Amino acid sequence: MRSLTELISNNVQWSEEMARANPGFFDRLAKQQTPDYLWIGCSDSRVPANQIVDLDPGELFVHRNVANLVVHTDFNCLSVIQYAVEALNVKHIIVCGHYSCGGVKAALCNFELGLIDNWLRHIQDVQEKHAKMLSMIEDTDERCNRLCELNVIEQVINVCGTTIVRDAWRRGDSLTIHGWIYGLKDGRILDLAMGITGSHEVDAAYAATVSNIASGTISKTKTV
Ligand code: CO
Repeated sequence: MRSLTELISNNVQWSEEMARANPGFFDRLAKQQTPDYLWIGCSDSRVPANQIVDLDPGELFVHRNVANLVVHTDFNCLSVIQYAVEALNVKHIIVCGHYSCGGVKAALCNFELGLIDNWLRHIQDVQEKHAKMLSMIEDTDERCNRLCELNVIEQVINVCGTTIVRDAWRRGDSLTIHGWIYGLKDGRILDLAMGITGSHEVDAAYAATVSNIASGTISKTKTV
């Protein structure tokens, strides 16, 4: 099939509806974007960033990859963060994972999938870091979901450790880093209560959230 007629026709309908509901919408957006938020999420088709937080085009700057990882040397992700912080002046960076993440599950179960195993190795690092907590969970799905939460927290810490975010905080910019997790079964987001606004808050926020995850006080893993 050389053309995806259905999708193109969906697009025509969507653009007409948007223009009708909000006259001048595309003209305004074409001039500039002024999003307040950078979203770093999983590529999973069931977690469409704008849709689940009900934001229009222009309101959310988005980076997605398998298992919402922020790797220290990933120039794709780092470039997105830099542009979002320094050019767009976003006020919030949200790392949003999701329960039942295929990437996290593959890492946990040591599936052999080829090239992607190297990418998922970063999740296995998270797994090894929290091996004691995870080993106490017997149910495999629950252990996977707990690792999904821990993975979000670790990626939040990685965002905080970038030169871009550290420089922004040093300049006195208002920039908060959040860790969220989305439930595929109920469409609801759980805030993992990181909300870090400066370098001095990183250690305490990390310790408190990991402790809350370990004790199950902010976890939804039993219901998702
Ligand atoms: Co995923």
